[in-house]
Amino acid sequence: MSQTTEPPPAAEPDNAAQADAIAVVGRAAPLKLPPGLPVQLRINGATVMLQVEPWVTLLDLLREQLLLTGSKKGCDQGQCGACTVLVDGVRMNSCLLLAVSLDGADITTIEGLAALAGADACGPNGLHPLQQAFIDCDALQCGYCTPGQLCSAAGLLNEHPPANAHEIRERMSGNICRCGAYPQIVEAVARVALVPRAPAPAGPTPYAAKGRPTP
Ligand code: FES
Ligand code: FES
Repeated sequence: MSQTTEPPPAAEPDNAAQADAIAVVGRAAPLKLPPGLPVQLRINGATVMLQVEPWVTLLDLLREQLLLTGSKKGCDQGQCGACTVLVDGVRMNSCLLLAVSLDGADITTIEGLAALAGADACGPNGLHPLQQAFIDCDALQCGYCTPGQLCSAAGLLNEHPPANAHEIRERMSGNICRCGAYPQIVEAVARVALVPRAPAPAGPTPYAAKGRPTP
């Protein structure tokens, strides 16, 4: 007949050892996380009420809680522009913004950009003119930077109009494209952003006036 041996009783916690451990860790109780804070945002035209932990960035809120993954996380430290969104019409790096600081803000991400076009929407899918220009100019390769480029360009349109392509390049310099599609990106933005030149005055062109063929 086999005999079963009872397992030894669990050892009582060693209070002295626990106290030592607490002293080493430096806190007297388990870390208690604060509850989320209430935040109201208008995102792509829809008002949402959220409970957000104070350390959550707008980018993480968009991507991980709202599943709006169009905004990309490139560097997560404000250096690449892949996360650019519009906050009250102003282009900003969403990786640098704490969501709780934006209570009441109006956010537009790439998912909502086309809706801003209104009567200027292009094609059967109602694209924003910038989106159509990016397609027409083949202004992307891998596309990772493209949502940020487009939101940044839309923010640029909300600022003072650029004078020329050089100024567009300068003012879009916060948006990095690792594929190097800059010439096409600048061309696409220029198609929308550059103010059309005033029509030439009526009458003979200088060339015609000098008896040369009109170019
Ligand atoms: S991910 Fe925000 S600037 Fe790079
Ligand atoms: S298109 Fe690839 S990073 Fe810009």
